[in-house]
Amino acid sequence: MKIDILTLFPEMFETFLSTSIIGRAVEKEHVTIRTHNIRDFAANKHKQVDDYPYGGGAGMVMMVQPLSDAIKYVLDNYHEKKPKTIYLSPQGIVLTQGLAQQLAKEDSLILICGHYEGIDQRVIDMYVDMEISIGDYVLTGGEIPAMVLVDCVTRLIPGVLGSSESILEESHSNSLLEYPQYTRPAVYDGIAVPEVLLSGNHKEIEKWRKIQSLKKTLQSRPDLFLKKCTATTLTEEEKKLLKELENIIEL
Ligand SMILES: C[S@@+](CC[C@H](N)C(=O)[O-])C[C@H]1O[C@@H](n2cnc3c(N)ncnc32)[C@H](O)[C@@H]1O
Repeated sequence: MKIDILTLFPEMFETFLSTSIIGRAVEKEHVTIRTHNIRDFAANKHKQVDDYPYGGGAGMVMMVQPLSDAIKYVLDNYHEKKPKTIYLSPQGIVLTQGLAQQLAKEDSLILICGHYEGIDQRVIDMYVDMEISIGDYVLTGGEIPAMVLVDCVTRLIPGVLGSSESILEESHSNSLLEYPQYTRPAVYDGIAVPEVLLSGNHKEIEKWRKIQSLKKTLQSRPDLFLKKCTATTLTEEEKKLLKELENIIEL
């Protein structure tokens, strides 16, 4: 996958793109990520990229010319087909694991990071295919949302994570949260790891994990649980395990 990020602060991405799993994915060329400084495309002599909003009001708006020229530069120099172009915005649809899974299938993406009061609407009208929010709150800029999107999409690209199974069992991958995890030592400060995990009985371990996953989702994210039930995506096995869970906790 190829990702072009348009930003006023490319330096914010340096550590992110060279560290940990994302750093390795870049190094192994599972993903090519380029950052472009929007200010480099400002045509005026002061390299100004923002201006007062028409109609008045607080704050500044990112101007159409530098952004439009930055997008044209990326399209002309790096892509034969227009990549899905995303504006990170608190007004967008909220990013979910499902959306990340869809985006991971794209060949290329352009991400636009806004600042100030946002970007001139004409950029959205001319180029943007999708506005994506990382949650119902407002940040100062689109760089952190772009990193969030790049991170959750990149780790879904085949080959990036060691084990593809770990993706299947992760929280949100099947509308459930993941079961609790433990590692050595078996007892710490008097608190022991659940016995079943030390038993070596893989069938029992799998069953325990599925029950814990249902329990955790019910307790922490009843909204997710309800969505899974109303979408009738509960498997027959999950329905059976739920019956057992009813005996353990009060529903
Ligand atoms: C201060 S915000 C602008 C908010 C805008 N005035 C509004 O009310 O919708 C500046 C930039 O941060 C980014 N941003 C802020 N919150 C975000 C969120 N929850 N998700 C994605 N991007 C966000 C966007 O790129 C936005 O253009």
